[in-house]
Amino acid sequence: MSAEPQSGVIAPRLFRDVLGHFPTGVAVITSVGDDGQPIGMAVGSFTSVSLDPPLVAFLPDRGSSTFPAIRNAGRFCVNVLAGGQEDICRTFATRGADRFGSVEWRPAPHTGSPVLDGVVAWIDCELGDVHEAGDHDIVIGRVLHLEVANPTLPLLFFQGGYGTFAPRSLVMASRGRPSEAVRAAEAARDDLERLAEEVGLECRVLAREENGLAIVATAGHASGADPVGAILPFYPPFGGTIAAWGSPELRAEWYDSFPAELGSEQRAEFDADLDRMRKRGWTLTFQSDAATEAETLVEAMAEYGRTPSLERRLFEAGKEMSGLDDPDLLDDSTASQVRTITAPVIGANGPLLHLTLYGFPPDASLDFVEGARDVLVATSRTLSERFGGRVD
Ligand SMILES: Cc1cc2nc3c(=O)[nH]c(=O)nc-3n(C[C@H](O)[C@H](O)[C@H](O)COP(=O)(O)O)c2cc1C
Repeated sequence: MSAEPQSGVIAPRLFRDVLGHFPTGVAVITSVGDDGQPIGMAVGSFTSVSLDPPLVAFLPDRGSSTFPAIRNAGRFCVNVLAGGQEDICRTFATRGADRFGSVEWRPAPHTGSPVLDGVVAWIDCELGDVHEAGDHDIVIGRVLHLEVANPTLPLLFFQGGYGTFAPRSLVMASRGRPSEAVRAAEAARDDLERLAEEVGLECRVLAREENGLAIVATAGHASGADPVGAILPFYPPFGGTIAAWGSPELRAEWYDSFPAELGSEQRAEFDADLDRMRKRGWTLTFQSDAATEAETLVEAMAEYGRTPSLERRLFEAGKEMSGLDDPDLLDDSTASQVRTITAPVIGANGPLLHLTLYGFPPDASLDFVEGARDVLVATSRTLSERFGGRVD
C-alpha cells in the first residue's frame, strides 16, 4: 500500500532524483526579441501534444528571464539538438552567456525565429495557450512548419549527464581489438587495391560483425560519402554470400533476423538462390530504384549513424530489391543492367569477407562485366587460399 503524498511531503531532492531516471531529448526554443535580437533557452521539457490540430509544448520555469520575451514575441522555433551539440545546450542554459555568439543560424520560414545550424529538426510555431502549472508554465505551440534538417542521432539528457541514442544492435562487439574480418581486410589491402584498379570499379568489403554486416573497407572509392563503418542488417537480401557459405546455423540466423514473417516458401526460394550462388562462386544484382535507395540509405547510415528510421527504410528497400535474382546467362542487354557483382573470401572458419564490385557504367558491355567478374573471382580464390579456406 502506498500513502497518498501530501503537498510539501515530497523532498525536492527525491523528486529530482526519481524524475532524473526518465531520459529526455534537448531542444533550444528560439525567438526574436523586441529589439530584433535573437533569443533562446534550452529545455528538456519539449513534447509533441496533438496531431490534429498539430500542437507541441514546452514547460519554462516561471523564473526564466527568457520566456517572457518569447511570450511577448508570440512565436518561437523548437530546435532539436543533435548528439554533438552538448556545448550549444550548455550555452543556452547559462544565464549571461553570449548564446548566439558561436552558433550560425537562419530565420525559420514563418516566424523568422532562429533555426540553429546542425540541429536534427526544427518546428516553427505560433505561441498558443499558456497554462500555469506550479512553478512552471505549460506553453502550447501551434505548428506552422517543420522539417528534419539532419536525420542524425539526437542529444539526450539523463541523470544530469549527456549522451545519445544507441540502438541495441549498434553496440560494437569489436571495441578494442579489431575482429578477424577487419584484420583480414587490412591484410588483403594490396590485393583489393589491385582488383579495383584492374577492373576500374570500386570494391566494397563487407563482413559479418556481431551487430550486423559492416562495410570494413573500400578500394577504388571514387566520390561521395565514405561508406566505411556503415552497418547493414544481416538478413535477406543483404550479405547473401556470407549466408551461402556459412554453416546451417549462420544461414538460419540470417533468416531469423529478418524483421518480418519469412514464410517457408520464401525461405525455399532464398535457399535455392544461395545454393546456386555457392555452386557458381559469385552473384550479381541489377540496377533498380530500390537498390539505389538502399545505397543512399547505407551512405546516410555511415554519415548519421544507424537510426531506427533509416533502418526501417532500408528494410523496406531490401524487400523491394530484386534480392538475389541473378540469371545464369548474361548477355549484352542484361550486362548493361548490372549493378554489383559479389564473391566471398572464405577463411579457415568459414566466410570471412564479402567482396562487392560497384559502379558499373550504364552501358557496360558483356565483355566488360565478364572480365570484371573473372578478376573478382580470381581475387576471391587467391585470398581464400591465403586465409585457409576454399570457395567451393
Ligand atoms: C538539459 C536541460 C534541460 C532544461 N530544461 C528546462 C526546461 O524544460 N524548462 C526550463 O525552464 N528550463 C530548463 N532548463 C534550464 C534553462 O535552460 C535555463 O535555466 C535557462 O535557459 C536560464 O536562462 P533564462 O533565465 O534566460 O531562461 C534546462 C537546462 C538543461 C541543461
